[in-house]
Amino acid sequence: MTERTLVLIKPDGVERRYVGDILGRVERKGLDLVALKLLTVDREVAEKHYAEHAERPFFPDLIEFITSGPLVAAVLEGPRSIEAFRQIAGGTDPVAKATPGTIRADLALDGQKNLVHGSDSPESAAREIALWFPELG
Ligand code: PPS
Repeated sequence: MTERTLVLIKPDGVERRYVGDILGRVERKGLDLVALKLLTVDREVAEKHYAEHAERPFFPDLIEFITSGPLVAAVLEGPRSIEAFRQIAGGTDPVAKATPGTIRADLALDGQKNLVHGSDSPESAAREIALWFPELG
């Protein structure tokens, strides 16, 4: 079953010049790029994107970080693309959770500066794609 997922290459990924590496892993996995853009996100969109974490202690820092510089937003498509991208991303904590060979395990140390975001469910994907790519609606 083909589905879409929203992926972000966070500001640390752009700053560290891993955009090509990360998109290469996506392409080698076999997922299709449907939409792609580089932008610096404003607080309003960032707060909507991370609304489910609004009460967490790290929320203000997370908003500061995600709005701190250019990021890449992409829509990927393919069979089980939500789970497939989360598999190649690795767990949120790059050391304690991510499996070696994943983006986060290979290239990151920190739970906030962990290079990528991927939608975690079909409902989140639909909400996030509408938020980041209203032009696709
Ligand atoms: S957790 O640990 O299960 O709550 O993590 P998760 O729900 O997958 O994602 C939490 C997102 O917030 C970012 N973030 C942090 N998570 C945990 N601890 C700290 N200190 C923290 N700081 C920031 C984390 O990178 C997740 O971002 P996304 O973009 O969703 O992957």
